[in-house]
Amino acid sequence: MTRSAVADAPSLDIDLYAPEILPDPWPVLARIRDAGPIVWNEQGYWMTAHDRVCRQIMNQPDAIGQEGLIASLFGEEAFISIDERAMHNALRNVWVSAFGKDGVEALVPFVRNVVGAMMDAVEEELRDTGQVDLVPALSRPLPAHVIAHMMGVSEAMTPTVIAWADRMADATAGGLPIDYDNCPYWLASEQAKQDLAAFLIEQIRYRRGNPGDDLVSRMVHSPVGSRISEQAMMVNLRQLLFAGNETTSNWLGHIVVALADHPRERRALRGDRSLLPAALEEVLRWQGVTQVLPRGVKQQGVAVAGQDLPVGAEVVLLLGAAGRDPERYERPDAFDIRREPKPHLAFGFGLHSCLGAALARMEALEVASAILDRLPEYRVARPLAFGNFSLRGPTSVWIERIEG
Ligand code: HEM
Repeated sequence: MTRSAVADAPSLDIDLYAPEILPDPWPVLARIRDAGPIVWNEQGYWMTAHDRVCRQIMNQPDAIGQEGLIASLFGEEAFISIDERAMHNALRNVWVSAFGKDGVEALVPFVRNVVGAMMDAVEEELRDTGQVDLVPALSRPLPAHVIAHMMGVSEAMTPTVIAWADRMADATAGGLPIDYDNCPYWLASEQAKQDLAAFLIEQIRYRRGNPGDDLVSRMVHSPVGSRISEQAMMVNLRQLLFAGNETTSNWLGHIVVALADHPRERRALRGDRSLLPAALEEVLRWQGVTQVLPRGVKQQGVAVAGQDLPVGAEVVLLLGAAGRDPERYERPDAFDIRREPKPHLAFGFGLHSCLGAALARMEALEVASAILDRLPEYRVARPLAFGNFSLRGPTSVWIERIEG
């Protein structure tokens, strides 16, 4: 896009991936929101920090859809990349029941068991050394463990699959727009994607003759599975590791920090667990995980908030910023576990809204409950570190007990 094409639009030059923005991106995001409903970033893309504009864009996938970065990240045949409803829904429906209420409830004993074992190790380390980093001990490995279990991955292979999923999630850590041929994060993630592809193809072949109740078998033996290639089945499986791993880990990390930093709320939640589900949603609104959701303009004549957008234009929806939009939320920067509940955009909206939201919510509830039970009084013991802005979350959370 040329500068003249955007001459009348509000414009800013902001590197959202600059390391100094990461610990506290909220002032910069507020500046973008204040600049207008849709703003040209001199870095080469459009962006919006407004809840209502994000919704408007997510509501028209035929005009502004998954072309561009999403399709490159996940693969064109993954349903997260497909805007055509019939094919999208046929693929998504294969797993709707596994990720629905009953499917998720059936997983609770497994998740409780894994969280329990992780918390045993956390308590042991706290006894031995006085401090523990809850990211590698709990929040980082749990979601990949759960999805690997759902896919029927053996315990022996699970750590390898988790490592691939972690590397894959770093794809956008080098910033936007991506220099696909030279960005080291993108290249490392491509290697991890290939490793996972080879592994998942083996699983697909094995499950043809050995069906089970796992996600691989459900795809292989579904009506749509018999019509698509192994490669297409593979990318649809792989997207689950991509979409559900780092996102959920980061939410869990933010929960651990929010509970530590807000002792009054922590004590209220300990005393009344019925407040917990809304409090966890509040963490997600207040510390959104998916900060950057990319879209590409596919049709001619598209206008958003009065701005004409040409075919091929990239648009970044700043979903974390939308969670703090004062047009939608009163006192948006305050963490308030008793605020009036209002649906947020952290799990997306419309055709591509998150398939794994109920699963992530169950994992968050299990983790938060275990922490309230077993670490009634604790604090963050060292400065926090944060990773990639696209999927923002703490990369380490060292904690210690508060005695007495
Ligand atoms: C806190 C945790 C999570 C967050 C914040 C999150 C966020 C999102 C968002 C924003 C979208 C919309 C993507 C778009 O419109 O382009 C999405 C879609 C999706 N998510 Fe999640 N997600 C989470 C957990 C999970 C989990 C645990 C899974 C599965 C294991 C998962 C699987 C998916 C899939 C498959 C889609 C694509 C849905 C479609 O295209 O129909 N997510 N998620």
